[in-house]
Amino acid sequence: MKKLAVFGNPVAHSLSPTIHQMFAKSCGEIISYTKIECAPASFAQSISDFFLDPQAVGCNITMPFKQEAYRLTQAHCDPYAEYAEAVNTLFYNEKLCGYNTDGIGLVSDLIAQVSSLQGSSVLLIGAGGAARGVVVPLLDAGVKELYISNRTGEKAQRLVEQFSRNEVQAILTDELTSKKFDVVVNCTSASLHNQLPDLGRLNLGNCELVYDMVYGSQPTVFMDYASTNGAPRVSDGLGMLVGQAAEAFYVWTGKRPDTAEVQVALRTG
Ligand code: ATR
Repeated sequence: MKKLAVFGNPVAHSLSPTIHQMFAKSCGEIISYTKIECAPASFAQSISDFFLDPQAVGCNITMPFKQEAYRLTQAHCDPYAEYAEAVNTLFYNEKLCGYNTDGIGLVSDLIAQVSSLQGSSVLLIGAGGAARGVVVPLLDAGVKELYISNRTGEKAQRLVEQFSRNEVQAILTDELTSKKFDVVVNCTSASLHNQLPDLGRLNLGNCELVYDMVYGSQPTVFMDYASTNGAPRVSDGLGMLVGQAAEAFYVWTGKRPDTAEVQVALRTG
């Protein structure tokens, strides 16, 4: 039996145990997968306690511990964790290794919905950790122009400077009207507070897909806005959630589970 868990605070809402049990069933693995809510001050200790058990293989890390998990594993983490400066997956393989599978989760879901990102133009709204984590995976998937727009413009500019790649540019809300984007991704935390980021006069009718990283039982205000403003296709972040989990499962087991059937099962309850 492989012992797995998700660490966060709060963590009660997490779908990860359900998702990973479905993966395990379809891949013939036997796992235990628990939710561990720990106080911010005891995160590092909770992680080392968890891995004392020889059956403990790995865990997922969610808010607010992704940056601290990165600091714990900085010497042994994958490039996407390095770029994101955040870790969402830990794997004990003689030593504790950190991974960030969020970007792979987003890319796999976008490709499932728009076929290819090769040569595309993508707009990220938001310049926090969620946006940072997906920049390089999107470029690796062939995105040709990646624009970052943020309520606080300087933060978008700083993020762009950190990546220092010609394909990545900051864009002001006022300038959004002048461009055509194939995919628009809401990476802000606004949907969690039922708020809509300012999109200026962005023409959503021109996009192939408008995507919110947030997933809930109801469409977010951003998704509703996109639907009523001409977006031909609108998606929540369930596919990203399942996709990042699938990549973590692969890190732990070497097996790639089918994500489509898990998404259907989660949507139909
Ligand atoms: P995360 O790690 O989840 O990305 P974060 O680092 O706190 O969280 O970043 C949150 C992002 O959502 C930021 O880009 C933030 O904009 P600011 O940099 O201007 O704070 C954005 N955000 C949050 N609430 C928002 C709102 N109501 N409208 C627009 N942007 C919002």
